[in-house]
Amino acid sequence: MKADGWALATSPRNGLLAVFLPGFRIRARGPFRLHCSNARRLLARIKRAPDDDGARRRGPVAGRQRGRAEDLICSRLRGIKRPRQRQRRRIANEDEVEIVSARGAAMGRRVGIVAALVCALLWGCCIEAQALGGGAGEDGAGRGRLGLDNGLARTPPMGWNSWNFFNCFIDETVIFETASALVFTGLADLGYNYVNIDDCWAELERDAHGNLVPRAATFPSGIKALADHVHGLGLKLGIYSDAGFLTCQKQPGSLGYEIQDARTFASWEVDYLKYDNCYNDKSRPESRYPVMRNALNASGRAIFFSMCEWGKDDPATWAAPVGNSWRTTEDIRDTWRSMTKIADENDRWASFAGPGGWNDPDMLEVGNGGMSLDEYRSHFSVWALMKAPLLIGCDVRNMSAEVLAILSNKEVIDVNQDSLGVQGRRVLRSPVWWLGNNVQVWSGPLSGDRTVLLLWNRSKKAFNIKASWSDIGLPSGTPVTVRDLWKHETWDGNSVDEIEVKVQGHTSQMFILTPLSRTPRVSSS
Ligand code: GAL
Repeated sequence: MKADGWALATSPRNGLLAVFLPGFRIRARGPFRLHCSNARRLLARIKRAPDDDGARRRGPVAGRQRGRAEDLICSRLRGIKRPRQRQRRRIANEDEVEIVSARGAAMGRRVGIVAALVCALLWGCCIEAQALGGGAGEDGAGRGRLGLDNGLARTPPMGWNSWNFFNCFIDETVIFETASALVFTGLADLGYNYVNIDDCWAELERDAHGNLVPRAATFPSGIKALADHVHGLGLKLGIYSDAGFLTCQKQPGSLGYEIQDARTFASWEVDYLKYDNCYNDKSRPESRYPVMRNALNASGRAIFFSMCEWGKDDPATWAAPVGNSWRTTEDIRDTWRSMTKIADENDRWASFAGPGGWNDPDMLEVGNGGMSLDEYRSHFSVWALMKAPLLIGCDVRNMSAEVLAILSNKEVIDVNQDSLGVQGRRVLRSPVWWLGNNVQVWSGPLSGDRTVLLLWNRSKKAFNIKASWSDIGLPSGTPVTVRDLWKHETWDGNSVDEIEVKVQGHTSQMFILTPLSRTPRVSSS
């Protein structure tokens, strides 16, 4: 990151930390908020990954992930280059700020101190670093004391959500029947255990005590009865609210009612809250969402917190201590174009996902009729590879056998639920993809030194797609077994340097490569 205005950084623990000159790069290792009234807004927040999220902090991807985080933020700011020569000076061990200066650090700092103080006073241009959730210290696990503390989402959530198919046309019968359908189709046994009610479940007014009230016409038994039923089936119940005055469909939102509503949800024994962003007070999500996070933490019930601010404020960069998942994109539509676009957008944030907090490219459209079965297979494959929440968005009471087969592919689900918890990403695409031959290679590490590989042909014609080991982080010459996750077959013989496959238009092929001996990965980027 680079400051191009005079800047003053403060931390909740040490007060004044540093001043930054124009042109200086700073690396922030904690959640920071920037206020800059007369200079352009420059900095985003970088969250320090919690220490307990092993896969996010350790292993061969850690360094690359950190690099990507920097690159990502840098690329958002005009004219920013990595300094050729780095001079680093740690200025506050505990407060997680380093200055990385390209030139003139010593003199710059002296001049900067005076200039920035004057600027801060006269022009009100300052960077104020403050911990999310009110400046709390950290607990032993490396999360802020007021950070998300529910122990959930060690793997991406799986389940069903009402919105993509039913929109506002929901009632308790749909929810009761869907829960049963998840069980009798076998989907529940495969891990789809959240039954999530989206918008339109509440009356348009709170009651005399300010409580949210289930819509009498459509949810006459109340949410607690639904929760009891769903729990009785071994499943979990999710509900929906909004970090604004109203939800997107204009039922009451939770802004200003966070504690009361979190208590209500806990009293109904709800297990999951999707929290939308409509009709808000225009304050930044970074300050609004932690309020509900804190209320959920204080509710006495572990409630999965699914943040839905549509990627507006780059939540991947700051939401890991706040939510268990965060939407990275606008709403998905049931089209190939929308699905592929959303996959690409979500891919940008890959390095920020990990156990406890996942990028959410929105719910699945598999089975809703707008794409071919092959396209849905790609949709499901890439969502699994990206460690996206696998929330079914179709009517599971009435789906076809083919759709059920896609959603039930255990080998693909296992990729999504892999204990390493590293989001796979696009590692290669054809250089002239915009001319129509858009072929891509996506891959990512799995536990046990395995690698998942998706050869994805986004064009209409068939193409051969080749993935070399160097593209996907495997040392050249490594013999691997190749398992086809859709044909459920293991190839005869071993591949040692690359695989090449003919892939039909708008289809993909998905494999797991398992080295014959223990093989540390090499960086593929
Ligand atoms: C949108 C959200 C959708 C759905 C809808 C309900 O903001 O992205 O997933 O929840 O609101 O009104």
